[in-house]
Amino acid sequence: MEFIDVILSRKSVRSFSEEEIPENVLNEMLEAARLSPSSQNRQCWRFIVVQNKETRERLALKSGLIGKVNFFIKDAPVIIVACADPSKSVKLNKQNYYLVDIAIAFQQMMLAAWNHGVGSCWLAAFDEQKVKDILNIPDNIRVVAMSPFGYPKEKASLYDKALKTFAGSKKRLDLNKIIMWEKWGKY
Ligand SMILES: Cc1cc2nc3c(=O)[nH]c(=O)nc-3n(C[C@H](O)[C@H](O)[C@H](O)COP(=O)(O)O)c2cc1C
Repeated sequence: MEFIDVILSRKSVRSFSEEEIPENVLNEMLEAARLSPSSQNRQCWRFIVVQNKETRERLALKSGLIGKVNFFIKDAPVIIVACADPSKSVKLNKQNYYLVDIAIAFQQMMLAAWNHGVGSCWLAAFDEQKVKDILNIPDNIRVVAMSPFGYPKEKASLYDKALKTFAGSKKRLDLNKIIMWEKWGKY
């Protein structure tokens, strides 16, 4: 795909076919994350690639912030958990840049995936401690995000459609509401 088409067509995917992701595509996704910029190039990210069916099911059904809210990720052939070691990142202006480092790298991974038709959905609605217990993640590491990766089902599930409507996923603020020119307040 043209780069701009990757951006224009990307959307969160919440219903997956069980088709495997080819190794070269998975490797390209991981490489896209590895090459991301990070604060002081400290690369505080660590990614756990989960392909084991049982572990995927545990993440999907037993790590939700509320109940089984993430049940839909169990069908995806791969779940990637994006972790950070905050001690390897930078704190400036009272901002924890490990969150930024992870966000950039994970988004690069998601865009690289979508370039090959592999969908994803950023997830924050998980119980961090439960994810840590399932994957043996040490206390000093933060779990920033996770996402299923897989090919979208031809027909999106009802849940997928309902959530998109609930989240208003197609809406974006107009440029004239978010861009200011030269100074704060000059839209
Ligand atoms: C930081 C972050 C957290 C999110 N958490 C969840 C989540 O827990 N569950 C979910 O289904 N979608 C989650 N999303 C996906 C958003 O709902 C989605 O990106 C938004 O509605 C825009 O839709 P689009 O991605 O299809 O363009 C999250 C997205 C971001 C960036």
